[in-house]
Amino acid sequence: MVAAPKPPAATPASGEQLLERIAADFIGLNTTYRVATGEVTRRVYLDSTASTLMMGAAYRTVASFLEHYANTHSLMHNSARLATGAYDWAHQRVLSFVGADPERYTCFFTGSGTTGGINRLARIYHQLRPDRDTVLVSIMEHHSNDLPHRKHIGRVIHLPVAMDQAGMGAVDLEALERLLVQEKGRINYVAVTGVSNVTGIINPVRAVARLAHEHDALVLVDGAQMVAHVPVQVSGHDDPLEDIDALVFSGHKTYVPGSPGVVVARKDHLAQVEPDEVGGGMVDRVFTESYTVTPHFPEREEAGTPNIPGAIGLAAALEVLDRVGMDYLLAEETKLIGYALQALEEIPDVTIYGTTDTGHCPRAASISFNVEGLPHSLVAGVLNDYHNIAVRNECFCAHPYVIEMIPDQAADYLAMTDDQLAAACLPKPGMVRASFGLYNNTADVDALAEALRDIIAKGAEYQALYKLGDDLEYHHQTFTFQPEEHFSIPDLVTEALSGDGP
Ligand code: ALA
Repeated sequence: MVAAPKPPAATPASGEQLLERIAADFIGLNTTYRVATGEVTRRVYLDSTASTLMMGAAYRTVASFLEHYANTHSLMHNSARLATGAYDWAHQRVLSFVGADPERYTCFFTGSGTTGGINRLARIYHQLRPDRDTVLVSIMEHHSNDLPHRKHIGRVIHLPVAMDQAGMGAVDLEALERLLVQEKGRINYVAVTGVSNVTGIINPVRAVARLAHEHDALVLVDGAQMVAHVPVQVSGHDDPLEDIDALVFSGHKTYVPGSPGVVVARKDHLAQVEPDEVGGGMVDRVFTESYTVTPHFPEREEAGTPNIPGAIGLAAALEVLDRVGMDYLLAEETKLIGYALQALEEIPDVTIYGTTDTGHCPRAASISFNVEGLPHSLVAGVLNDYHNIAVRNECFCAHPYVIEMIPDQAADYLAMTDDQLAAACLPKPGMVRASFGLYNNTADVDALAEALRDIIAKGAEYQALYKLGDDLEYHHQTFTFQPEEHFSIPDLVTEALSGDGP
């Protein structure tokens, strides 16, 4: 185990200067596409909640590492030693970034983003506390922080969110306490998202942890949308009841593609359960009849050759975020979100979901909305095809939460069976989501607001240009994007083989 990363000896620039430099250093900021009018314009990327762009510093760190790339399971050659040291450093970097005591917590990397990690933890907690068959899950969760608990623990109760005059807010702490009392002895853990992937509403994670622990439940925080946007402290609170038992997040929401999923969890919990995944690296001795699982963390939880470049890229991105300062980044993002909320609220016919009273209920990263009278898919399509603005639409893998916010639109959807729905060819209920990363700025928000005004002004004209496809999304009738004009694996391979490549 290597020592915890040291803070940099000297800060070369202020947070403001660093942020300015870093915000301009992402891959894909200057990507251009031809739009339906024939013009070639720069893409405005407002889909960071689905996947962030890649940070240049992380990309270059990985590229440099690849000069030495080797397996961490090999022992004696220089590259393997370097890879092992760098991979260890990545674990320590994660723990220190999220404020987790390395004596009590370990960090391990999993595949398939946050989903992989939450499935693992659900199976672990099921074995750890087999007599507790219930998980309290907020209604705000995306499916990765809901379905694994249903499948592996059994019973899930969805917690409501608190309401204020401006709409649905953060998780309802009174309801949480009531359920913890009512279901006493059955609650295995409470699972909440740190930040909603739909509304961007930030949950009061410390208060949730305190209540859960007071009632002998564990706490799992889905940090998928949190870690890149909001400072996180896993342990070391003045009140230890506010420490959280497990945090899960993913590189693909934290400026590093490839979905290196991350779990930070208590070693004393993990040590009581034989690792679910077995294979090379997590055993000390293997005989034909038996094997001995290593007691060492994180090796115990990482069977097989890990995603070493993914972990190293993620560690580099966290190092950058730490040097800029998460408090500063959150303050800057809060200004941008405030600016965007105001810009969208000023547009008649735009409905924003979730409370917009950010003084009372802060938000980060995402804003979801609909335009009166226009399907979400058409709005997202026109934003893309005419304005080169990338957003996500529909239910964002968070169906129960989205549907609760759009009961009128979802009524038929809820009433029909799957077969009836297929026969009816009804567009799916949903919303449009604009989401932000640290490279976005007020000019991007202005572009979105201007595009929405255009869509509203020319709604009927746009509607006539689009048709509902078999996939129940709206498609332009004459304009189609040609991906191969921009990227083709066979063409790149041909170029490389012809000797014209780098
Ligand atoms: N959970 C991801 C999103 O919100 C996939 O888009």
